[in-house]
Amino acid sequence: MTRRPLPRPFTDLLVPVVVIDNAARTAELVSALLAGGIGCAEIALRTPGALLAIESAARIPGFRIGAGTVLSAEDVDRAVDAGAQFVVSPGLDDEVIERCAHHGVPLVPGVATATEVQRALRSGLEYLKFFPAEASGGRAAIEQLAGPFPSVQFLPSGGVSRENVASYASSDAVFAVSGSWMASRRMIADGDFETIAELSREATKLVTQLSPAS
Ligand code: 3PG
Repeated sequence: MTRRPLPRPFTDLLVPVVVIDNAARTAELVSALLAGGIGCAEIALRTPGALLAIESAARIPGFRIGAGTVLSAEDVDRAVDAGAQFVVSPGLDDEVIERCAHHGVPLVPGVATATEVQRALRSGLEYLKFFPAEASGGRAAIEQLAGPFPSVQFLPSGGVSRENVASYASSDAVFAVSGSWMASRRMIADGDFETIAELSREATKLVTQLSPAS
């Protein structure tokens, strides 16, 4: 049975993917993103400090924090406990879908094929991460998937950069764009928050000028 579609998980147009080694850097990172007009981020559960970083970010007013690289029901529980307001997964996993539904937390699961889009739709999920975006055909693949699936909105991620973000954001089938170029693991580890704020400002400008959602 096809479930009733779930609402849009967030209204932000840019979702930085953050891999953070030192959770003590979270407040400075969030300040830099906010200075660049970005009010949201996905902290990937790829480092020991990720959950602590989510906890810190969740305490900052006006900032929306999500957990990424969520691969199991246990990951969902930990992310929600830490204060994650949305969950992103690289693929489509029934256990993760069920657990997010149990907690009532919005999920953006990853898809790269028409078969996966159909499976997601059957679970009532219409806001989907298109991953790995560049390697899976980029904007052209999104436009082609939008043909048979007009209700689906994509979050391209993987290989998105300052060079191609505007092209992705101009697609009617894209609800937000995601990537690590604005706040790379290296920039965060080096404390290069000025560059993060600058790249965020640039990305915000590109996306808000071009996105059909703006
Ligand atoms: C990821 O899971 O790492 C994201 O999709 C970001 O990819 P990127 O580093 O190519 O932007």
